[in-house]
Amino acid sequence: MTAFTPTYDVVDEAVAAGYFPPRHPVEITDAVELTPGVVRLTFRDPYIAKHARPAQFVNLFTYDPLMPMPRPFGVSETDGDLVSVIFAVVGKGTEEFAGLDAGDSIQVLGPLGRPFDTKQAAHYVLVAGGLGVPPLIYTAQRLAADPAARTTAVFGYRNEHFADRFIEPYADATVSIDESEGNVITLLDRLEADGGLTVDGLDTVILSCGPLPMMKAVAAWAAKRDLACQLSMEQRMGCGYGTCVLCTVDTVDGRLKVCADGPVFTRERLGWGE
Ligand SMILES: Cc1cc2nc3c(=O)[nH]c(=O)nc-3n(C[C@H](O)[C@H](O)[C@H](O)COP(=O)(O)OP(=O)(O)OC[C@H]3O[C@@H](n4cnc5c(N)ncnc54)[C@H](O)[C@@H]3O)c2cc1C
Ligand code: FES
Repeated sequence: MTAFTPTYDVVDEAVAAGYFPPRHPVEITDAVELTPGVVRLTFRDPYIAKHARPAQFVNLFTYDPLMPMPRPFGVSETDGDLVSVIFAVVGKGTEEFAGLDAGDSIQVLGPLGRPFDTKQAAHYVLVAGGLGVPPLIYTAQRLAADPAARTTAVFGYRNEHFADRFIEPYADATVSIDESEGNVITLLDRLEADGGLTVDGLDTVILSCGPLPMMKAVAAWAAKRDLACQLSMEQRMGCGYGTCVLCTVDTVDGRLKVCADGPVFTRERLGWGE
């Protein structure tokens, strides 16, 4: 890997000229394996840390010339100038990123995509499965600064509950489950039965990210109760900003690009759970 050479010129120059910053090198400050095959990478990027909104993602570029396309990851947390992502090692790109250490450099572009709409004073139920949890950790972090919002995290894991410790400081309540016990629908049913779905007379809004079958089940669950539901899609991507048309999804408004029209769509727009 290349050692980091500090230079934010390209970002500063683009911003000064009124442009979105192009891809640029950033310094990795921390890399830790949370559970086998799941890594949390932190890098220093004042622009992304300042501008990222919930469910927006960053493109990370590999060093391999045979993999020119970047890999998208939801922002999972910010701390001052630092930005973290959490990812599963599933292929060659993530394998390379998992080998990075503090002091290494990586090329990054972002923040990209349309975020969750969290302007409403509401009880936000953050429903995530597997590697859908990182963007919802960041959503909880941002909503923790909003006195009009309440949050309940509902997380489903295959086995180890590796992200609970990251969301607990931000969410008002956290419940999680693994495959030995059930899934996020099991938790949503329990929450409803225990009266935990409604808080202080606020509207309940479901924000969700995870595997497709899980999100379809969450949208159907929300539709049955006439609850607002926004879903952040994890489609395979190329460019990440609307030019290659690799990432389309069928919606009631026709085929849309997950990277530029999303990744967040309402259940109504996706035509799910109607
Ligand atoms: C908006 C967005 C946010 C994402 N956020 C996260 C995140 O926070 N954490 C995380 O672990 N992953 C996230 N992903 C998925 C992540 O981008 C892929 O896992 C990664 O690009 C795989 O790269 P690779 O080179 O290791 O795998 P590849 O060799 O490219 O592929 C390996 C396997 O992963 C599958 N895959 C590749 N890309 C995707 C994708 N976009 N969605 C679903 N399956 C895919 C392939 O079909 C293949 O089976 C996100 C994807 C999107 C679109
Ligand atoms: S990834 Fe290129 S258009 Fe969406």
